[in-house]
Amino acid sequence: MCGIVGYIGGNQAVPVLLEGLKKLEYRGYDSAGVAIGGSRICVRKYKGRLSVLAKHLSSENLDGTMGIGHTRWATHGEPSDMNAHPHINKTGGIAVVHNGIIENYMQIKAFLIEKGCTFVSETDTEVLAHYIDYFYDGDLTEAVRKVLREIRGSYAFAVISDKEPDRIVCVKKENPLIIGAGEGENFIASDIPAVLNQTRNIYLLEENELAVVKKDQIIFYNESGGVVEKEKFEINWDVSAAEKGGYEHFMLKEIHEQPKAVRDTMYARVKREEPGIKLDKITLTNEMLRKISRIYIVACGTAYHAGMVAKQALENMTGIPVEVAIASEFRYVCPTVNRDSLTIVISQSGETLDTLMALKEAKKKGSRVLSIVNVQGSTIARESDDVLYTRAGPEIAVASTKGYTSQLTAIYQLALYLACLKGSLSETEIEEIKSEMLKLPEKIEKILEKQEEIRSFAKQYASIEDVFYLGRGLDYALALEGSLKLKEISYIHSEAYPAGELKHGTIALIVPGTVVIAILTQNALYEKMISNIREVKARGAFVLAIAQEDMGEVESVADHVIFIPRVDARLAPVVGIVPMQLLAYYMAAERGCDVDKPRNLAKSVTVE
Ligand code: AGP
Repeated sequence: MCGIVGYIGGNQAVPVLLEGLKKLEYRGYDSAGVAIGGSRICVRKYKGRLSVLAKHLSSENLDGTMGIGHTRWATHGEPSDMNAHPHINKTGGIAVVHNGIIENYMQIKAFLIEKGCTFVSETDTEVLAHYIDYFYDGDLTEAVRKVLREIRGSYAFAVISDKEPDRIVCVKKENPLIIGAGEGENFIASDIPAVLNQTRNIYLLEENELAVVKKDQIIFYNESGGVVEKEKFEINWDVSAAEKGGYEHFMLKEIHEQPKAVRDTMYARVKREEPGIKLDKITLTNEMLRKISRIYIVACGTAYHAGMVAKQALENMTGIPVEVAIASEFRYVCPTVNRDSLTIVISQSGETLDTLMALKEAKKKGSRVLSIVNVQGSTIARESDDVLYTRAGPEIAVASTKGYTSQLTAIYQLALYLACLKGSLSETEIEEIKSEMLKLPEKIEKILEKQEEIRSFAKQYASIEDVFYLGRGLDYALALEGSLKLKEISYIHSEAYPAGELKHGTIALIVPGTVVIAILTQNALYEKMISNIREVKARGAFVLAIAQEDMGEVESVADHVIFIPRVDARLAPVVGIVPMQLLAYYMAAERGCDVDKPRNLAKSVTVE
């Protein structure tokens, strides 16, 4: 996610802005920049780490006691100096930093080009600088208000002008922005850590609020332009806690970010008021699709488990045969890949070498490649013919959580998109699935409310050394992901098994007290799963079931049940995984493990 900082006061702005940006580095970024205000605005911005920006700034003396800064997590446009923020208008008299998505930026850009504006970047943010300039008529705040009436999307942005160097104007809509209140100086930032070394007195901007920040005055306005009085909070977090938004670990923060990650990944693509699915960057045509005889999916780890869900979604919605392969095995098991293949590559980091090598193998055999990636401009993204980005924001914890659920969300969009191209689903079926997809964030939120129930179960069973995850169909794919979550952060040995397969050998390992986690999100497989639970119970297992809330009978066979809100079985993995993420997290925390950085593991495995 991008990071915004701002300062206005009596000290030099550059060091304050750099320190604030440094505190936001954990959010992940690929470029950084500052704009120092005054009678003339000076902008310095560079691709790469903050150290690149700092090095350039240290070689010159940018004088000024107000300014804005930004670390960019690319959404529109590759990481580059030109795409880095701040962005300016034609004269350079207005500078903007922005976090979020301006959904209708293309229409506005076309309008402004007609009015004579020239654009130098591929970003949606640059539109803001020109648009504010277009409306500017001696009052920066009023110009910003006029822009807010025209733009759509989710955003937090800050703007300065050389005509009004005594203020920073900032707004918030669905993206965080806070104001730090100092003595004779004030601060703005995307997140509390950026200002904690300067002040612990914070104002939290609410939805659609606008703030005019001067060095000795802050005025807040609501959406209709009325002045609002706001409560000032004193933050008593320490800095490292603040970087995790108050959560003890990044992993728990990212588990809780899943409703937003899923919502953002659907943004502007899955809309009730528009038919079908809008994937404007996908160039795969119906013509090409007609020639595709088989789809291959390649990935590693969690992304591979998402690929297993993708197989069922794609086959059920498009009728095209799909094979899923672990990337490191792909070159040995898929000799049939050819120019009539579509290879879908899934990777959160976009840098996993096993996956990249499999991609190159597929291309060598003539296959078209479409990747589902979270990191803009990553190697796998750049090597693909098409990229469908997830919008989970940076995933810091080694164990993937919001990366997985946003991959599933992207996969469903792709399956529906291909089904529309092929005509393999009726419009009614497509709209019905879309409507169910749009409910997913609130269903995840419902499970997050059960956090304490799951935590107490985890504390009770944290000392176990073996766990079996059982599921059928999609629930087997879910079992694999639940099992990986547990073992990679708690170091408890666990394995996922197709529930029907257990009796063919492995059930010999089930002895009194063995913990089994049975997953029941697939209504059509309910009866069979109930018998599998009875099977292991008969051998003395302790069974924790994860079931849909209308499967009440499970309580009579399992020892403990965590219910998930009713969800369309085809989409159930997005919701069903959340209790298992929380279970793994709390068991690992209870065992004192390094949850965010488990032993032997890296966030991105760039070795084969
Ligand atoms: C998942 O929790 C692990 N961190 C790991 O399995 C990961 O999913 C795998 O290395 C693939 O990473 P990628 O999605 O970045 O390619």
